Amino acid sequence: MPLRGRSITVVGDLSPDEQWFLYRKTAELKRLWTQGGDIRPFRIDRSELAAYLMFFEDSTRTKESFRNAALFHGLTSNVFDTGSSSFNKKESLSDTLKMLVGYNRESLFVIRSTLEGVCRHLDEHLQKYTQGIGLPKPIFLNAGDGRHEHPTQEFLDEFTFLEALDWNRSEIHLALVGDLYHGRTVHSKADGLKVFERVKVDLVAPPELAMPAQYLQKMRDHGFEIRLFATIEEYLAQEQRARLWYFTRLQLERMGDELLDKQDYLRQAVTIQESQVPRLVPGTKFFHPLPQNRTAPTIPETLADTSLNGWDEQSRNGFFTRLVLMGLVAGDLSREFTGKGLVPRPSDSPFIEEVKLGIESSEKEQDFKTGIKRIENGVVIDHIGRGLSVPEIWKLLDKIRRNLDLNYLAGQGVFASGGRGRRIKGIISIPNLDGFDEKRLKMLAALSPECTLNVVRLNRVVRKYRLHMPPRVYNFKEICCRNENCISHPRHNEPVKSEFYRSGQETFVCKYCDRLHTYQEIWTS
Ligand code: NCD
Repeated sequence: MPLRGRSITVVGDLSPDEQWFLYRKTAELKRLWTQGGDIRPFRIDRSELAAYLMFFEDSTRTKESFRNAALFHGLTSNVFDTGSSSFNKKESLSDTLKMLVGYNRESLFVIRSTLEGVCRHLDEHLQKYTQGIGLPKPIFLNAGDGRHEHPTQEFLDEFTFLEALDWNRSEIHLALVGDLYHGRTVHSKADGLKVFERVKVDLVAPPELAMPAQYLQKMRDHGFEIRLFATIEEYLAQEQRARLWYFTRLQLERMGDELLDKQDYLRQAVTIQESQVPRLVPGTKFFHPLPQNRTAPTIPETLADTSLNGWDEQSRNGFFTRLVLMGLVAGDLSREFTGKGLVPRPSDSPFIEEVKLGIESSEKEQDFKTGIKRIENGVVIDHIGRGLSVPEIWKLLDKIRRNLDLNYLAGQGVFASGGRGRRIKGIISIPNLDGFDEKRLKMLAALSPECTLNVVRLNRVVRKYRLHMPPRVYNFKEICCRNENCISHPRHNEPVKSEFYRSGQETFVCKYCDRLHTYQEIWTS
């Protein structure tokens, strides 16, 4: 049973095959449910498993669908009172959950919070704790974490799109309309839409509400075709309009004063007018995770009784999808699964490569004499800024010296390399230095990947290293996520260590909240 015990902290916690299995199983349940068939095989019946619903942000659909799913499965269901708990006495979530897992043989937590990455952290933290006291690892289901992700909403959305496309996975053309910046349900689409082979996404939002860079990058990395429009009017003015539209409300609770002041103007850009309906392509369906802001809805109430309404069925699908998901992770509903599972994230491929020194290499200090005083002992960083122009390399030399704190007597310059092809490169030479510690090496590797570090003793290069961009940065007390809502941010006082993964050529994402950082932004010092 490959999925039993799995936590769902982000969409990517299920492989595309596992997601597809969830959708097929959900379709089976929905058919039986609607036709009055036998749904007992879907029930996992586990009263020894306690389900805790912890909602620190408001919720109706997500909370109630999970509560009813837990009841269906016969779990011991607890709705945790977040308003009167010890959080108000500044207790950490980690401490509260350590206490709760002790009250039952097995636990499942459904958590909605403003803290981004909270489920990933608790999943790791509680795993260690329960191992120590001989209990199985608790299961965590992310019911929406700040502006980060909403994986279970994503599963029901994809299920709904599949229904709308008669289960044809070859292609989807979808318009995402509304608050793409603060709305987490659209962020989860960057991974969820991978269930389709070809994906065309039209992002319709004014620049203030545009899709954050990390999700745009992810969509492009997945090969999605992306187009951007600032308003619905601009979108309708061109020919290639999607048949499926996914609206999100303006997430006023996550906006600062500056945006709140502009809310009427922003809302207007992403509100569909009845007068625009004739310009929609035939068979258009509107979806919405709901709730709609009833005072100022972006889909007018008058359209609810038309064939455009795909959102009511979508909302109903939330119950079926969550019911099956619970059965997969907390029971044995995944026993027939045969597809591909999760591919683990790349962890520690080495970023420091020792280069073998040939006889001629040991005389390579000749290289360093061009315009730079030869050093007898010390360190020479060579091949800095491969592929950059001369002014760019000068800038990079300065950046390296600042970041690595190289306040020594040293030489530096930009030269043409001696070999064939005469490439331009930067060199920094520092006499009487033994080498660098790991942090400085990592920094150097990230600032100038493919540079070399030469250790010179008595005029000879005795060791040479080539540095590659590090795939993961962790275990340094000087690193910190810039997102104040991230669970790993020190202001939340949770026992979490920051960790980053390389995501592009020179960018890194936080392991918990997925926020994009340049390498320099990771460091507090
Ligand atoms: C969404 C959410 O909480 O992110 N709601 C939901 O779960 N159906 C969307 C929203 O609140 O706008």
